[in-house]
Amino acid sequence: MMDEDAFLRAATEARSYAHAPYSKFKVGAAVQDEFGRVFTGCNIENASFGLTMCAERVAVFKAISEGAGRLKKVAVVTDSESLTPPCGACRQILWEFCGNAELILLNLTGARLTMPIGELLPRPFDGSSF
Ligand code: THU
Repeated sequence: MMDEDAFLRAATEARSYAHAPYSKFKVGAAVQDEFGRVFTGCNIENASFGLTMCAERVAVFKAISEGAGRLKKVAVVTDSESLTPPCGACRQILWEFCGNAELILLNLTGARLTMPIGELLPRPFDGSSF
Protein backbone atom coordinates (compact mmCIF):
# COMPACT_ATOMS: atom_id res chain seq x y z
CA MET A 1 0.00 0.00 0.00
CA MET A 2 1.42 3.36 -1.05
CA ASP A 3 1.90 5.70 1.93
CA GLU A 4 0.01 8.97 2.04
CA ASP A 5 2.98 11.16 1.08
CA ALA A 6 3.65 9.07 -2.02
CA PHE A 7 -0.05 9.20 -2.88
CA LEU A 8 -0.06 13.00 -2.65
CA ARG A 9 3.16 13.19 -4.66
CA ALA A 10 1.51 11.10 -7.39
CA ALA A 11 -1.38 13.58 -7.57
CA THR A 12 1.09 16.47 -7.65
CA GLU A 13 3.11 14.89 -10.45
CA ALA A 14 -0.08 14.32 -12.46
CA ARG A 15 -0.80 18.05 -12.16
CA SER A 16 2.36 18.75 -14.15
CA TYR A 17 0.77 16.99 -17.15
CA ALA A 18 -2.32 19.24 -17.15
CA HIS A 19 -3.35 20.60 -20.52
CA ALA A 20 -4.69 23.98 -19.39
CA PRO A 21 -3.62 26.60 -21.96
CA TYR A 22 -6.94 28.48 -21.65
CA SER A 23 -7.53 28.78 -17.92
CA LYS A 24 -3.85 28.30 -16.97
CA PHE A 25 -5.26 26.55 -13.89
CA LYS A 26 -3.54 23.21 -13.51
CA VAL A 27 -5.20 20.48 -11.46
CA GLY A 28 -3.86 17.09 -10.43
CA ALA A 29 -5.81 14.23 -8.89
CA ALA A 30 -5.21 10.74 -7.59
CA VAL A 31 -7.49 7.96 -6.39
CA GLN A 32 -6.56 4.81 -4.50
CA ASP A 33 -8.62 1.64 -4.60
CA GLU A 34 -9.29 -0.93 -1.90
CA PHE A 35 -6.28 -2.97 -3.08
CA GLY A 36 -3.90 -0.01 -2.89
CA ARG A 37 -3.72 0.65 -6.63
CA VAL A 38 -3.28 4.31 -7.46
CA PHE A 39 -4.58 6.09 -10.57
CA THR A 40 -3.88 9.70 -11.44
CA GLY A 41 -5.39 12.38 -13.61
CA CYS A 42 -4.97 15.98 -14.71
CA ASN A 43 -7.38 18.46 -16.25
CA ILE A 44 -7.50 18.37 -20.03
CA GLU A 45 -8.90 21.48 -21.69
CA ASN A 46 -10.05 21.99 -25.26
CA ALA A 47 -10.40 25.00 -27.55
CA SER A 48 -14.09 24.08 -27.51
CA PHE A 49 -14.23 24.95 -23.82
CA GLY A 50 -17.23 22.79 -22.91
CA LEU A 51 -15.27 19.66 -23.75
CA THR A 52 -12.83 20.26 -20.91
CA MET A 53 -12.43 17.34 -18.53
CA CYS A 54 -11.55 17.79 -14.86
CA ALA A 55 -8.61 16.02 -13.26
CA GLU A 56 -10.83 14.12 -10.81
CA ARG A 57 -12.92 12.54 -13.55
CA VAL A 58 -9.84 11.62 -15.57
CA ALA A 59 -8.44 9.80 -12.51
CA VAL A 60 -11.74 8.04 -11.71
CA PHE A 61 -12.38 6.99 -15.31
CA LYS A 62 -8.84 5.71 -15.71
CA ALA A 63 -9.31 3.68 -12.53
CA ILE A 64 -12.66 2.19 -13.49
CA SER A 65 -11.55 1.43 -17.03
CA GLU A 66 -8.55 -0.45 -15.68
CA GLY A 67 -10.53 -2.66 -13.32
CA ALA A 68 -10.01 -0.80 -10.05
CA GLY A 69 -11.89 -1.90 -6.97
CA ARG A 70 -13.85 0.40 -4.70
CA LEU A 71 -12.10 3.77 -4.49
CA LYS A 72 -11.11 4.62 -0.94
CA LYS A 73 -9.12 7.82 -1.11
CA VAL A 74 -9.03 10.87 -3.38
CA ALA A 75 -6.55 13.75 -3.62
CA VAL A 76 -6.88 17.02 -5.54
CA VAL A 77 -3.87 19.30 -5.98
CA THR A 78 -3.77 22.87 -7.28
CA ASP A 79 -1.62 25.96 -6.79
CA SER A 80 -4.48 27.77 -5.02
CA GLU A 81 -3.95 29.18 -1.55
CA SER A 82 -7.60 28.50 -0.74
CA LEU A 83 -7.38 24.86 -1.95
CA THR A 84 -9.72 23.56 -4.65
CA PRO A 85 -12.79 21.45 -3.96
CA PRO A 86 -14.14 19.28 -6.79
CA CYS A 87 -16.75 20.88 -9.06
CA GLY A 88 -20.37 19.73 -8.86
CA ALA A 89 -20.09 17.26 -11.74
CA CYS A 90 -17.02 15.67 -10.18
CA ARG A 91 -18.74 15.41 -6.79
CA GLN A 92 -21.46 13.33 -8.41
CA ILE A 93 -18.92 11.06 -10.15
CA LEU A 94 -16.85 10.72 -6.98
CA TRP A 95 -19.97 9.75 -5.01
CA GLU A 96 -20.76 7.01 -7.53
CA PHE A 97 -17.36 5.33 -7.29
CA CYS A 98 -15.91 6.47 -3.97
CA GLY A 99 -19.00 6.97 -1.81
CA ASN A 100 -18.12 8.71 1.41
CA ALA A 101 -14.36 8.12 0.97
CA GLU A 102 -11.70 10.46 2.28
CA LEU A 103 -10.98 13.49 0.11
CA ILE A 104 -7.71 15.37 0.56
CA LEU A 105 -7.35 18.88 -0.89
CA LEU A 106 -3.76 19.99 -1.24
CA ASN A 107 -1.75 22.89 -2.60
CA LEU A 108 1.86 23.29 -3.61
CA THR A 109 2.89 24.86 -0.31
CA GLY A 110 1.70 21.76 1.54
CA ALA A 111 -1.54 23.21 2.95
CA ARG A 112 -4.12 20.47 3.14
CA LEU A 113 -7.67 19.81 4.18
CA THR A 114 -9.33 16.42 4.58
CA MET A 115 -13.05 15.69 4.51
CA PRO A 116 -15.48 12.92 3.59
CA ILE A 117 -16.88 13.33 0.08
CA GLY A 118 -20.41 13.25 1.48
CA GLU A 119 -19.77 16.54 3.21
CA LEU A 120 -19.58 18.16 -0.23
CA LEU A 121 -22.67 16.42 -1.59
CA PRO A 122 -25.51 16.41 0.91
CA ARG A 123 -28.60 14.39 -0.04
CA PRO A 124 -26.90 12.81 -3.07
CA PHE A 125 -28.73 11.29 -5.99
CA ASP A 126 -27.44 7.74 -6.50
CA GLY A 127 -28.44 4.18 -7.24
CA SER A 128 -30.49 4.00 -4.05
CA SER A 129 -32.61 6.99 -5.11
CA PHE A 130 -34.87 5.09 -7.50
N1 THU B 1 -10.98 21.81 -12.85
C1 THU B 1 -10.64 20.55 -12.44
O1 THU B 1 -9.82 19.88 -13.07
N2 THU B 1 -11.21 20.07 -11.32
C2 THU B 1 -12.11 20.76 -10.55
O2 THU B 1 -12.68 20.19 -9.63
C3 THU B 1 -12.35 22.17 -10.82
C4 THU B 1 -11.97 22.62 -12.19
C5 THU B 1 -10.34 22.36 -14.05
C6 THU B 1 -11.25 22.48 -15.22
C7 THU B 1 -10.56 23.59 -16.00
O3 THU B 1 -9.56 23.00 -16.82
C8 THU B 1 -9.88 24.43 -14.96
O4 THU B 1 -9.85 23.65 -13.78
C9 THU B 1 -10.56 25.75 -14.67
O5 THU B 1 -11.90 25.56 -14.39
